[in-house]
Amino acid sequence: MSTPRGEFTSRFGFLMASSGSAVGLGNIWGFPTNTASNGGAAFLFAYLILVFALAYPVLMAELIIGRHAQANAVTALQSISSGKKSRLLALVVGFTGIITVSFILSFYAVVSGWMIAHFFDPLARLFGMDGLAQWLTRDAVVRNSLFVALFMVITIYIISAGVKDGIEKWASRLMPSLIIILLLLVFYVLTLPGASEGLRAYLVPDFSRITDPALLVNAMGQAFFSLSLGVGTMLVYGSYISKQENLPVVGGLVALLDIGIAVLAGMLILPAMYVALGNGVEIFDADGGLIAGPGLIISVLPALFSTMGAIGIPVAIAFFLLMTIASLTSSISMLEVPVAYGVEHLGVERRKVAMIVGTVITFISLLIVFNFDPLFDLVVTATTEYSQPLLGLFFCIFVAWIWRRNDILEEIKQGNSQVESGIFWKIWPVYIKFVCPLAILIVYFQ
Ligand code: TRP
Repeated sequence: MSTPRGEFTSRFGFLMASSGSAVGLGNIWGFPTNTASNGGAAFLFAYLILVFALAYPVLMAELIIGRHAQANAVTALQSISSGKKSRLLALVVGFTGIITVSFILSFYAVVSGWMIAHFFDPLARLFGMDGLAQWLTRDAVVRNSLFVALFMVITIYIISAGVKDGIEKWASRLMPSLIIILLLLVFYVLTLPGASEGLRAYLVPDFSRITDPALLVNAMGQAFFSLSLGVGTMLVYGSYISKQENLPVVGGLVALLDIGIAVLAGMLILPAMYVALGNGVEIFDADGGLIAGPGLIISVLPALFSTMGAIGIPVAIAFFLLMTIASLTSSISMLEVPVAYGVEHLGVERRKVAMIVGTVITFISLLIVFNFDPLFDLVVTATTEYSQPLLGLFFCIFVAWIWRRNDILEEIKQGNSQVESGIFWKIWPVYIKFVCPLAILIVYFQ
């Protein structure tokens, strides 16, 4: 049990790691398509409000608990609970979080595996290996299993190396690369014919939709998924932040980075879809909506790249590299949740826990690959639509109703001695106590 805990060595390291967790398939895939199919900028508007009004407060709850307890999710929640019942609740919530995030990783790895396969496709074509390229883009159980396993091996490798030499080191390399690749792609795609029409579909608001409950439910789900909330990911990352760090500020920066990259990704995906339309690629589904599911990334965009001629190859490589990086900095944050628990609570060596838990999750992923139709949607829905918001609600309850208010203040004060007189302390406690739980419940029962 005496394993020393890791810590991020700088604010930059923490920001890259936690924005790496936040920025993932949810931003580059989920956000743009959700926006396009929910009234364009009206959705963006609702999303911005929900992120700051609901998701940011919950993110802060996780970061504060984590940094205070300097421990994994289960131990941390228990350490802020004094009564017998609340400690039991802490155990249940902490464990449900660990199980939920493990299942999230199991489906996330399947999709990430597709991204790696599609990354190798243009490379294979570049080297004239057309047979291999065809195999790489054909949705088959063997291909999917191999790439799920490859993706999980890389995830396990990074997590085995620890907080500083694994998570921080890789996030600090990968996140800046991601931002550069994304910017280059956006600039390039915006020069293509048809791009402005896509920009219009993305940004012109249809405000008649703003009170639509479906829009609000989608926006909240998107916000929770995108900020990796409810399952202890941000709690564990928070536990590795230095005590000198000003939590409300770094939490705000993580939220801003997450939103910024999502908005930017929309300026890539939607214009790219309309460029594809101009090139004769089908971008609408049978109901007349934009194709948003797996088809978007693994058929519409590759079809676009292949109509682009020679430039299509580097563009495809860059795009799927972007997707792979986004997936990887998220998947490591998911695996860290059960691993931190295993290391600290069971006293097992990090490498071993990472290997064992990672292998179990890989098996669950393979189960999904082999039974895709019945399992994939089921796991996605159960984890992200049911478990995650409910767990977020419990995090609010822990911070606002179980933990002592003074302890919270003391914790934040360590990195921000003026916090008591600032705006954060005037608003956040009320928010997390009443507004967030109520809003989550209302949206949940929609
Ligand atoms: N936020 C990531 C995305 O947008 C995914 C993610 C990472 C996640 N860790 C999580 C989602 C924990 C839910 C819970 O793709």
